[in-house]
Amino acid sequence: MSRYWSKVVQGLTPYVPGEQPKLPNLVKLNTNESPYGPSKRVLDALRAEVGDTLRLYPDPGSDKLRAAIAKRHGLKSENVFVGNGSDEVLAHVFMALLKHEDHDRPLLFPDITYSFYLVYCGLYGIAYEPVPLNSKFEIDVGDYIKPNGGIIFPNPNAPTGQLVPLPDIERLLQANTESVVVIDEAYVDFGGVSCVSLIQKYPQLLVTHTLSKSRALAGLRVGYATGHPELIEGLNRVKDSFNSYPLDRFAQAGAAAAMEDEAYFAAMCQKVIASKQSLVADMQALGFDVLPSAANFIFARFPGRDGADIAAKLRERSIIVRHFRNPPRISPFMRITVGTDEQCAGLVEALREIVYTNKNK
Ligand SMILES: Cc1ncc(COP(=O)(O)O)c(C=O)c1O
Repeated sequence: MSRYWSKVVQGLTPYVPGEQPKLPNLVKLNTNESPYGPSKRVLDALRAEVGDTLRLYPDPGSDKLRAAIAKRHGLKSENVFVGNGSDEVLAHVFMALLKHEDHDRPLLFPDITYSFYLVYCGLYGIAYEPVPLNSKFEIDVGDYIKPNGGIIFPNPNAPTGQLVPLPDIERLLQANTESVVVIDEAYVDFGGVSCVSLIQKYPQLLVTHTLSKSRALAGLRVGYATGHPELIEGLNRVKDSFNSYPLDRFAQAGAAAAMEDEAYFAAMCQKVIASKQSLVADMQALGFDVLPSAANFIFARFPGRDGADIAAKLRERSIIVRHFRNPPRISPFMRITVGTDEQCAGLVEALREIVYTNKNK
């Protein structure tokens, strides 16, 4: 604590990202990155950006990238906003669309969800109300049909991986017309159905995406939002009051190439989905409860065992997964990113040792 800090900073509880270990040879299954590298077309596009033009600022509107995203989703560029990772896009969404000074209706989001939402509420002073997941750890959209200042949840949800079906999202949109509904589709490509198709019909719907997971570009930091041009304009107003050039030349070129390489994208998603199916079957055979996952990670617990303890024992075997102590309801679980088949096989062997023997090493 410093006496020079502003009051807002004194009150912040910042987000703690999953560990990015400096140690070599760790099997890293803790932050839901892709186990495969990006498309070759992305690498070529990045190399082509190395040159004298780096002395010039990048395109502030990221026009080429927004056009590629729009084309991929059958939209117009005016429906697309891009930012430095979807975290930055979300930050602008909270400021532009979810913060209200004229009423005190709270923002609604699940009690178990992406914990950055809570951090943005703290940063911007937004009133919120956590809505409990049901007994099966699912989002029930009926619980969100009440007065609110906005609604946000990931679909599939994180860290549970469970999906809200498209008709339920539409039911929510029909009932909730007076505030913005943000669906965070960071993981939708691994088994969900995107609701981008609904944005033409519902001007209050904003859908966010990231290139960090299914496009294997966590290192490039690119995310985007799609929605009605008026919502996008609200986001641009915040962006241009914050940083006019959030995406550098590499990010714009690499991300555009990734959006254009549909074949590589589809093949990588299929590979991860197939590995997930085998991993779930293997873990269930060991006796783990695994929640149904439409994401590139699974949320699993072993009856009678503490998630933190199993995660610590995996770490001793050079495998890192994510464990959340809070809320206590999820502390038996571990969130495990789907790796390559080889990584998944190593994980299953390690888990077998941990749950069926008392050996520590
Ligand atoms: C639900 C959800 N939304 C958004 C993000 C942010 O992704 P990025 O900032 O890498 O685009 C993450 C990252 O893990 C996430 O889990």
